[in-house]
Amino acid sequence: MSGRIDTGFSGRVLAWYAAHGRKDLPWQSDPTAYRVWVSEVMLQQTRVETVIPYYKEWVARFPSLEVLAMADEEEVLRAWQGLGYYSRARNLHGAARVVRDRLGGELPPSSTALRALPGVGEYTAGAVASIAFGEAVPAVDGNARRVLSRLFDLPVPARRLIRDLAGTLVDRDRPGDFNQALMELGATICAPRSPRCEVCPIAARCRAREDGDPEAIGAAFRQLGMSCRGCHDNKADTFRHYGHSSTSQTTMENCQRVSCIRPPVRRPVDFGYGYRGCMDGLAKLSKGG
Ligand code: ADE
Repeated sequence: MSGRIDTGFSGRVLAWYAAHGRKDLPWQSDPTAYRVWVSEVMLQQTRVETVIPYYKEWVARFPSLEVLAMADEEEVLRAWQGLGYYSRARNLHGAARVVRDRLGGELPPSSTALRALPGVGEYTAGAVASIAFGEAVPAVDGNARRVLSRLFDLPVPARRLIRDLAGTLVDRDRPGDFNQALMELGATICAPRSPRCEVCPIAARCRAREDGDPEAIGAAFRQLGMSCRGCHDNKADTFRHYGHSSTSQTTMENCQRVSCIRPPVRRPVDFGYGYRGCMDGLAKLSKGG
């Protein structure tokens, strides 16, 4: 099938999720678009355990988008109190009113249309579209990002590249479960430190593991964050290589950081699985040679 990297891959991820994934989270019991949207916005900067009581309280108070749209902002912010990042609550409220006033009261069933709503970014749109509507689009949070970075052995990949890779891997029939499985895999197995590769369902295909040091990739994230400062050494005209060892140096040609001060290297890179592409995206994705 075109665009698919490996047909066995999603099967393994989904089987693992069926056997080990959490199934008792309150937003999983009735995954309407409204409930998925609320849970995903709450989960953006907050841990699952913290979110659970807030989520329950929220859906008891605002059981539907219509009720949320009717509520006062003050009441909405009160329900959010303690979760932090209050713009999330303001945007939820504002978007509920937009949906009520301009979209007939129903959240639109496509990631593209969802993205037009206040506060809905690529992640939230992908999560709602895939989980609630079954659209085969990626939803990559920090945990899934680490899984994919290790799978392809990419120490500090561009956001777009990870999104494109996730888009080629996502299960066409069960995109919501697949996206949630990758997030859960990152949260529970492919942890930043001491990943439990011995019980990972995709360890056999993991290039970072093959190369011997998957933890170095999580370490690179911690060390660098999203900033690109400090990787360029003018004098030696080299880039610090954030691959398997954060101390080794390599030439600019080999540097895997695409957000460096210098223009990104656009040579095709071998991602494995018979695919090649550019470090800042899979625009030139091609099978084989
Ligand atoms: N993190 C954020 N949303 C999630 C979800 N739906 N499943 C698992 N982990 C998540």
